[in-house]
Amino acid sequence: MRRKIFLNYTIPEKYRLGAPIRQDSHLSDGKMLRWDGAMQAVYSPVYQGGKPILLGHIPEMGEGDALAALDAAYRAYDLGRGVWPTQKPKDRIRCMEAFVALMKTMRDEVVKRLMWEIGKTLGDSESEFDRTLAYIVDTIREYEEMSRQAAELRLAGGVYAQIRRGPLGVVLCLGPYNYPLNETFCLLIPAILMGNTVVFKPARHGILLLSPLMEAFAEAFPKGVVNILYGSGSTVVPPVMRSGKVDALALIGSSRSANAIRQYHPRPNRLRTVLGLEAKNPAVVMPDADLDLAVSECVLGALSFNGQRCTALKLLFVHESIAKSFTKAFVHRVAALRCGLPWEAGVRLTPLPEPGKPDYLQALVADAEAQGAKVINEGGGAREESFFYPAVLYPVDKGMRIYHEEQFGPVVPIVPFTSISEPVARICESHYGQQVSLFSQNIDELAPLIDGLVNQVCRVNINSQCQRGPDVYPFTGRKDSAVGTLSVHDALRSFSIRTMVACKAFEANRKLLKALLNSGKSNFVNAGVTPCNQRLFQGSSGDLD
Ligand code: G3H
Repeated sequence: MRRKIFLNYTIPEKYRLGAPIRQDSHLSDGKMLRWDGAMQAVYSPVYQGGKPILLGHIPEMGEGDALAALDAAYRAYDLGRGVWPTQKPKDRIRCMEAFVALMKTMRDEVVKRLMWEIGKTLGDSESEFDRTLAYIVDTIREYEEMSRQAAELRLAGGVYAQIRRGPLGVVLCLGPYNYPLNETFCLLIPAILMGNTVVFKPARHGILLLSPLMEAFAEAFPKGVVNILYGSGSTVVPPVMRSGKVDALALIGSSRSANAIRQYHPRPNRLRTVLGLEAKNPAVVMPDADLDLAVSECVLGALSFNGQRCTALKLLFVHESIAKSFTKAFVHRVAALRCGLPWEAGVRLTPLPEPGKPDYLQALVADAEAQGAKVINEGGGAREESFFYPAVLYPVDKGMRIYHEEQFGPVVPIVPFTSISEPVARICESHYGQQVSLFSQNIDELAPLIDGLVNQVCRVNINSQCQRGPDVYPFTGRKDSAVGTLSVHDALRSFSIRTMVACKAFEANRKLLKALLNSGKSNFVNAGVTPCNQRLFQGSSGDLD
């Protein structure tokens, strides 16, 4: 560690917070309702005078408040008959565009709060905001295209059909603290656009940054479409699930919480799940890898945002023949990473938002050391309040906790291997199956590995770190790493179900269908007699599919 980061630091004027924020209202039933109840303090991972800085207070909701928010979403959905679930796509898009316009004006405030609440660097906070905005715009375009294609009638086996994707119902959304804006919105936005109504609970950290956006939701969407739950998850989530009124659970978090939450639902088959869960993505560095490239991608993969990414590289397998040169170069690069406060130029390593995290990481390091691994970088594992300087551990083996547990923080375990069967066995035995990174220049080595590993994980990265983006690509996992797929396109599918209107192609039905299409009376069967539909009406009852 180059310097004490909490000693004599300055905060540029632009990033000062002023007085603690008092979030004394919450979004429910289309209004920002005043909150007079108990409040919960929100602290920053940034310390001053030996204490975490108080950022503000949020409502500490109880069971009754949570059920009121749920009821607002339930009423707005109205068993599928509400205005929002039955509205035409273009009307929903208009609301979403109004939201985007409002959100754009909030960039500086949201970015500032991201830095203060979760310690994300200025550059990463800005890119989280911009990426989220781009994701919403791309989602709107994708939804337009999906709706355009679904407007055409079909005729098969003498049966006409109008097939569209319809909403699932009331969605409970729970986002993670490491991407409190981006990942929460990657669930929320497609869920809303497809006609669902939503109750959402922010993660434990990264809450105040959502306050300005709550007002934008209230302004842009009809009442009850978006509702927020503040407070402790163990208080507000169980009653909401036990009510049986939730149709879909969208959660980015741990498989343990997903399993617990699901069990509260009285009708499990009613509940769809869209889950992004934990991972322990390995890198496998083979003897003929481009060492510079492998080291730089592994440092990025293991330590971007202090390793607090579900896609982070959490176990580095390095062939023993190059282990010495790899570890030397790796440690050298880690030493060059600047540590400091999120707004400081060039900073890469920052304080951690979870209060118990430094103790946990220290215990992982101690366990590995007790079993023969060493911290091989100078100052590795040093602590200063909420800051934990990265510890690079070598040699790690399967007897150590760090080999199995998802550290989700700046501890980098390096495992030497002699035969490729060792990392492959580990990947197959693991309970996780999100991604892997393979480093090699040799296609004879890579080809069979790729073919096997694509069936163990859902993304094999070649000479590149693991990552979620670009967001047009499918993001998913096997085993305990995910349920459902998220991408601009796939998320719209995940939050909807195909539903259709069909009729046998009798002459009387043709007439009725034409009239319905042209009448504008249904929002579902409403495309008019387009040239393509016209063709179906002119033909006999022949199959076009
Ligand atoms: O925490 C998991 C995120 O989805 C990772 O996304 O690879 O873009 O950092 P990222």
